[in-house]
Amino acid sequence: MAQDDLVIDPWGSAQSTDYDRMIEQFGLTSMEGVSLANPSKLHRRGIVFAHRDVDQVLEAQRTGAPFGVLTGLMPSGQMHLGHSMVVEQVKWFQQQGGDVTIAVADLESQATRGVSLAKGRSIALQEYVAHYAALGLDPEKTSVYFQSTRPIVQRLGFQLGKRTNLNEFEAIYGFGGETNLAHVQAPLVQVGDILHPQMDEHGGLRPIVVPVGVDQDPHLRLTRGLASKTNWFNLRDSSSKGLMVSLSVHDENAEVFGQLPNGRIDKGKVTAVFEKVVAAVASLGFSDIMSNPKQGNVHIPSATQRDKHGLRLALLRLERQLGGPGLMAPSSTYHHFAVGMTGDKMSSSQPKTTLFLRDDLATVEKKIKRAFSGGQPTVEEHRRLGGNPDIDVAYQYMMYFFEEDDAYLAELNASFRSGQLLAGEMKQLCIDRATAWMGELHEMRDQTAHLVDTFLAEDSR
Ligand code: TRP
Repeated sequence: MAQDDLVIDPWGSAQSTDYDRMIEQFGLTSMEGVSLANPSKLHRRGIVFAHRDVDQVLEAQRTGAPFGVLTGLMPSGQMHLGHSMVVEQVKWFQQQGGDVTIAVADLESQATRGVSLAKGRSIALQEYVAHYAALGLDPEKTSVYFQSTRPIVQRLGFQLGKRTNLNEFEAIYGFGGETNLAHVQAPLVQVGDILHPQMDEHGGLRPIVVPVGVDQDPHLRLTRGLASKTNWFNLRDSSSKGLMVSLSVHDENAEVFGQLPNGRIDKGKVTAVFEKVVAAVASLGFSDIMSNPKQGNVHIPSATQRDKHGLRLALLRLERQLGGPGLMAPSSTYHHFAVGMTGDKMSSSQPKTTLFLRDDLATVEKKIKRAFSGGQPTVEEHRRLGGNPDIDVAYQYMMYFFEEDDAYLAELNASFRSGQLLAGEMKQLCIDRATAWMGELHEMRDQTAHLVDTFLAEDSR
């Protein structure tokens, strides 16, 4: 690892906001080139700034094919505004037709934060799910489960553990010899969280998108790598033209792929597998298919990048028919973190840095009044030099959370920058919007309290 490489510690308190560097170093794709049919305010404002393979989810949505959304919550402490951003994205994907699964990371919280499973359960329900309901998730299309009571999640993590090692954990998480092993186990359980909705008992093969803050990207890198390593077929660009399918032979498929224990090859089996690959490709409408069992590949010269998703699904389906796991690497989206109210990082352990969803309206008002301002020290200077909305917490919170209207927001931005709108005035506007928003949330929470249990999956009631 180079000295100045960025390492994200998902449990740490540091938070890098060098988003361009993250995109570059971790190979995220900017959202800028992605056009969405009905973007939410987080999309329109560039707050959801990057993704991995979100196209495969959007394509499923466009064609009416099934897709899933999975995210997780850490049951510890109170839910605050920062947590609501993931909920807003989950809700958006749900409105686009995705089925939603939510993992309560009770095992992770127990191991890394000392929260008992019983306590984790009550925090999850009373604090998190209660607000998910209030924020408008649809209980009919949302299924909340606990890591501790869904064995497949833990089994999957354990099983995939054999495809990684401590060197990879060092590279991804910066672990060393002193690292607590709970921090090795937790990511493997999270891998199980992210991949298990694809299993037949949990909805079956379909693209899954994981909306998260970038602090969770290490887990996605790990999960995507592990899923790919289990794949029986590789799909890549051909060096000449089109796409190329090749076999990826490992322990689990050696027999099916005709590799005899003595090192010889069972030609009959190899031929049968290649015939199946050709049939799978042909079923998508390709006619020009060049099968080369001797070189171990199938070449599809007329396939383009746009065919990749369909081909990948067809190959995973075939893999499952042949007895393999057929796991698809998950997609993900990432949002910027809102600045803390004091100008520092938003944190549950620092109540002044954020609004908790249970703060009463007087507290909301008080916190916003004291929030970090992007205005000048005196009115005279502010009128002359203008303010900076990019660091003004009141403005930022309107943009991230409270104000839906883009045109109005642009007006506020311009008049603050020009010095026409004063810092105190911006705060008052924010207070008005925030108290309306929070007041409505609290009312909704009361109205939807009876729904909390209906969010729970069968195995979690
Ligand atoms: N590790 C996450 C957190 O700290 C919680 C989590 C568990 C999660 N499983 C997940 C997040 C799966 C996204 C997807 O908040």
